[in-house]
Amino acid sequence: MIFCVAMEKQLCGLPLLLLVLLLSSIDGTTQLQSSQSQTLLRLQQLLYYPKVLTSWNNFTDFCNSEPNSSLTVVCYEDTLTQLHITGDRRGHMLPKSFSIDSFVTTLAKLPDVKVLTLVSLGLWGRLPEKINRLSSLEILNVSSNFLFGSLPHELSSLASLQTLILDENMFSGLVPDWIGSLPSLAVLSLRKNAFNGSLPSSLSTLSGLRVLALANNRFSGALPDLSRLTNLQVLDLESNSFGPMFPRLSHKLVTLILSKNMFRSAVSSQEVSSLYQLQRLDLSFNTFVGPFPTCLMSLPAITYLNISHNKLTGRLSTNLSCNSQLISVDLSSNLLTGSLPDCLKPSSKTSRDVVYGGNCLATENEDQRPVSFCSNEALAVGILPQRRKRVSKLGIALGVTGGVLGLFLLAGAVFLVLRRVSAKRKATEASPRLIKENVSMGYTSKLLSDARYISQTMKLGALGLPAYRTFSLEELEYATNNFESSAFMGEGYQGQIYRGRLKDGSFVAIRCLKMKKSCSTQNLMHHIELIAKLRHRHLVSVLGHCFECYLDDSTVSRMFFVFEYVPNGELRSWISDGNVGRLLTWEQRISVAIGVAKGIQFLHTGIVPGVYDNNLRITDVLLDNNLAAKISSYNLPLFVEGLGKVGQVVSRKGTPSIKDEDKVDIYDFGVILLELIVGRPLRGKGQVDVLKEQLQASISTDDGARRSMVDPTVHRTCSDQSLKTMMEICVRCLLKDPLERPSIEDVLWNLQFASQVQEGWLHNSNPPSIRGSPSPAASSRLHITTLESPRDSGYEEHER
Ligand SMILES: *[C@@H]1O[C@H](CO)[C@@H](O)[C@H](O)[C@H]1NC(C)=O
Ligand SMILES: *[C@@H]1O[C@H](CO)[C@@H](O)[C@H](O)[C@H]1NC(C)=O
Ligand SMILES: *[C@@H]1O[C@H](CO)[C@@H](O)[C@H](O)[C@H]1NC(C)=O
Ligand SMILES: *[C@@H]1O[C@H](CO)[C@@H](O)[C@H](O)[C@H]1NC(C)=O
Ligand SMILES: *[C@@H]1O[C@H](CO)[C@@H](O)[C@H](O)[C@H]1NC(C)=O
Ligand SMILES: *[C@@H]1O[C@H](CO)[C@@H](O)[C@H](O)[C@H]1NC(C)=O
Repeated sequence: MIFCVAMEKQLCGLPLLLLVLLLSSIDGTTQLQSSQSQTLLRLQQLLYYPKVLTSWNNFTDFCNSEPNSSLTVVCYEDTLTQLHITGDRRGHMLPKSFSIDSFVTTLAKLPDVKVLTLVSLGLWGRLPEKINRLSSLEILNVSSNFLFGSLPHELSSLASLQTLILDENMFSGLVPDWIGSLPSLAVLSLRKNAFNGSLPSSLSTLSGLRVLALANNRFSGALPDLSRLTNLQVLDLESNSFGPMFPRLSHKLVTLILSKNMFRSAVSSQEVSSLYQLQRLDLSFNTFVGPFPTCLMSLPAITYLNISHNKLTGRLSTNLSCNSQLISVDLSSNLLTGSLPDCLKPSSKTSRDVVYGGNCLATENEDQRPVSFCSNEALAVGILPQRRKRVSKLGIALGVTGGVLGLFLLAGAVFLVLRRVSAKRKATEASPRLIKENVSMGYTSKLLSDARYISQTMKLGALGLPAYRTFSLEELEYATNNFESSAFMGEGYQGQIYRGRLKDGSFVAIRCLKMKKSCSTQNLMHHIELIAKLRHRHLVSVLGHCFECYLDDSTVSRMFFVFEYVPNGELRSWISDGNVGRLLTWEQRISVAIGVAKGIQFLHTGIVPGVYDNNLRITDVLLDNNLAAKISSYNLPLFVEGLGKVGQVVSRKGTPSIKDEDKVDIYDFGVILLELIVGRPLRGKGQVDVLKEQLQASISTDDGARRSMVDPTVHRTCSDQSLKTMMEICVRCLLKDPLERPSIEDVLWNLQFASQVQEGWLHNSNPPSIRGSPSPAASSRLHITTLESPRDSGYEEHER
């Protein structure tokens, strides 16, 4: 009898099993391997059956259970890749019999786990050495437990580790030197532990680090040089004993918290004035001395500024300016004199939270001390020598005088730094060269009136831009803080260029032209109408204009053009300059070339008469947020009769015949393409000629020869066919005889072909590993939100 039943079960079991397999393959869900399910149940037991896991039992389908904020299991096919458990044992340790050793041993039976969150589970003990068995681990978050002891050396063998979060435990000892050998580390968060000693200098080699959060520990001593951590966005050192010198910082910082430490130096205005992305700065409760760098209030992104409880000196004046986004300012308990800047006074427009008590300011509102107190104290404080001598002299001079002269010098220094920064970023098209050449090569109004129609291509190209409009002078004054010096970007032949931020938050570049000859608005409208239509996705376009008129005769005194602002800077810095980490892939290079070619096509055919002879250079190609190319310097028909100088149609290269006038741009495009291929800046026509010959020779040789020509950073990730096509079209663009050069349509066709071939090749080979760094959760269904730098997303969205 027993035997029969067993037989029957076996026989029935077989088709049932098949059915289950069939069903699961149809709806695309798979079961976790049973050994891994057993492991999860064992973990549940080792954790003393926490509430959050009450639903787990022998029948749970782990991979297909509904995820929520406290419990999530993610599988890739039949293996577990992510496990997130957040318990409610924040203040309660697991019983004495809990063994962290068995717990980690059991975890290690999940060989593919990449992401582990084990928060508030009451875990206690020393992190065992066998943690290195979790060799696929990319993200580990064990916050709010009772883990203690020092970090085991074995952690250093987790080569994929990107994020390590140990907040709110009881870890102690030093941050070990091997931390610098974790090649992928992007987030290191050790808040609220008992680490001590100074930080290892190896930390400054972690070039991928984005977040370093060490608040509420017992760290002390000087900080290593952080200026090389070029990706660092968050530095939180609150409540330690770091000091005494102001640290050297990376310029990408968004959040900088140094409060409640032992800093006793001057605040290096050289360091802080270049923090152009800084939103949150907290220096409170230290002993910072010397002048308060007032440029902090007008940093372009600043929203929160707290310098309370320091010994910062200096004379504030009502005309200081602030960033309009600055919503919280705490200047309390320092040695500031003078009067509160107008921009910090309560107004109906902004709801700022401003605290300034405990200084020596001339105001009745908050508790202030006599000026003599501040000046005596200011004289009494010594300033520690800075590493850079020049700065320290400036610092002392300012500290002692602390007056108008000091502020004036400081403003000058800040102004220079800001100018350099913005010049470096070259964030708009506004090059002086453009303005100059437009004068000599502009269109006469005769030619303009011949512009009979604007073709359809043009209207299609302008997608995504706000409609052209007239700006009011007040708007522009608001955007540039009254054309303040920190907004100034450069000066050209006929005008100045300012960076601005409109009320809606968008950035713009504003060019201001002084009229030399009287000119009525009606005369100018004729040109404006044409300019308003010269808009395209691949051109840096004009968003609008503004006239400023003389009161007596209503002629125009100044004219402003508002251009779109292109955030990602010059193309060249994305393909060479040794700027490792942000270089374009081969596909992105093709796509950029297509963008430039489309921009040229629009200039030639999108408007009648076409805009030719644009003297295109790679430094005139900028990249927007999506890494789409935008031509910044084109032959804008702007500065013509009546605008100060009489424009003439004169070409640098003689008067080209109608037939080949479009081929000058094709040659220039060929030079840009060449640089995209070889990946290094080209200096001079001689070098272009030599490289062109080499390219030509390699086209007919073999794959190896061709690859040897290509930028080493992409040469292994481009398909031979796409490379060959790109090289061929490049060589043809660079031909001596303009008539032999291809048309822009021919160029575009070839580039698009190269792009398609490359895409096909990527699909058929093994793409995921060659497309830069793999994302931690690439193989799983859940999107993990760690702090991604804004640029990372840019890579994914780039135009195809
Ligand atoms: C999440 O889901 C688990 C079981 O599926 C449940 O026990 C837990 O209470 C849920 N938590 C929240 C916050 O919904
Ligand atoms: C799960 O199955 C095992 C045997 O495989 C058994 O010992 C255990 O009691 C079962 N647990 C539950 C919760 O059903
Ligand atoms: C760690 O995980 C917990 C729970 O998911 C989360 O609240 C916390 O923000 C995480 N820590 C960090 C630094 O991301
Ligand atoms: C760090 O703390 C440990 C005790 O946890 C102590 O023995 C050691 O001397 C401290 N080191 C420093 C540099 O303060
Ligand atoms: C601000 O006002 C002071 C006098 O109160 C003056 O010396 C200084 O030049 C002014 N600064 C600016 C930028 O206008
Ligand atoms: C500035 O920091 C101190 C201490 O860190 C804090 O008490 C104060 O509230 C902060 N000020 C503002 C405006 O947040």
